[in-house]
Amino acid sequence: MSQKVRVGLVGTGRIGRVHTQTIKQRVPQAELVAVTDMNLAAAEACAAEFGVSQVAPDFQALLDDPSIDAVLICSATDTHSTFIIQAANAGKHIFCEKPIAADLPAIDAALAAVDQAGVKLMIGFNRRFDANHRRIKQAIEAGEIGTPHLMHIISRDPAPPPIAYVKVSGGLFFDMTIHDFDMARFLLGEVTEVYACAGVMVDPAIGEAGDIDTAVITLKFANGAIGTIDNSRQAVYGYDQRVEVFGSKGSASSGNLFADAVTISSASSVQRGLPLNFFMDRYIPSYQLEVTEFIDSVVNNTTPPVTGADGRAPVVIAKAAILSYRENRPVKLSEI
Ligand SMILES: NC(=O)c1ccc[n+]([C@@H]2O[C@H](COP(=O)([O-])OP(=O)(O)OC[C@H]3O[C@@H](n4cnc5c(N)ncnc54)[C@H](O)[C@@H]3O)[C@@H](O)[C@H]2O)c1
Repeated sequence: MSQKVRVGLVGTGRIGRVHTQTIKQRVPQAELVAVTDMNLAAAEACAAEFGVSQVAPDFQALLDDPSIDAVLICSATDTHSTFIIQAANAGKHIFCEKPIAADLPAIDAALAAVDQAGVKLMIGFNRRFDANHRRIKQAIEAGEIGTPHLMHIISRDPAPPPIAYVKVSGGLFFDMTIHDFDMARFLLGEVTEVYACAGVMVDPAIGEAGDIDTAVITLKFANGAIGTIDNSRQAVYGYDQRVEVFGSKGSASSGNLFADAVTISSASSVQRGLPLNFFMDRYIPSYQLEVTEFIDSVVNNTTPPVTGADGRAPVVIAKAAILSYRENRPVKLSEI
């Protein structure tokens, strides 16, 4: 494909606006033709802000436009699997936000539709495209830290999402930890067993909505390594994103990112600013790289770097984590 990839985007909420801005301003190989949202006022505001010329009345209208090559699905999680099937049947390449669905039969139906149509599908696990996480993976692969023994992921949001979002998110393990399950696989390969402890410590309304807001999950990997994921929906100091992999020859670790690198020292204290506040601040370069690599895979007819199978695997881990939490016991992935 020599000319630009023509893209339509559905879902102009938090992440849809990030991707709209990214495509309009930072992905020269793509042209954002139209956006849509069930809340058309949100789509219109997004189009006006980022200079998108068309607002489509609904997702089907994007699919009916023969000039559109690919769609970005950024709507709520409970729309993803249906939209993937519709887009595949319409012959569009697909970038879909995580997770594909909370339900494995729905995921399998979506992946089958993609296979049958022969279109590309990439899932938005953007943290794989973060320079720090990539450097840790490179250190592991290059043998810089020897054989990995332990992995720790700390992943805490600055504030919980609205309760309306919580209710359709599929729960903390599907919505939030799913990124960490993907990071665990990205760094150390397949997970075989999980044990989850969790609770509601941030906001009782999250518990009333049937979810949890705080968790520690231990993981066993097929290669023998063990790891932990530590999640909270509310770190009062900002977005807390740290990873360490410890091995026989050393460790690779990454810390939080800051708006500046200044330390203020005085007679009474040593201070610095807070970490970058949330994913829209911390991970912007990773969103740019993931969308660029998706568009490249369409242009060059190559396999996207995060496949449908990569989208399915962390959902299996999430299901095991939920079962573990409910039954208060370690759960092997083979049980799911
Ligand atoms: N990769 C990441 O870092 C990241 C970050 C945030 C969200 N996400 C994922 O992106 C998705 C959206 O999350 P968000 O935080 O942007 O949510 P949001 O609630 O801010 O936005 C979702 C938008 O989708 C629209 N929508 C819902 N159903 C629709 C339908 N049937 N047709 C058209 N539009 C519809 C809503 O009106 C809303 O504007 C979720 O699946 C979430 O897991 C990923």
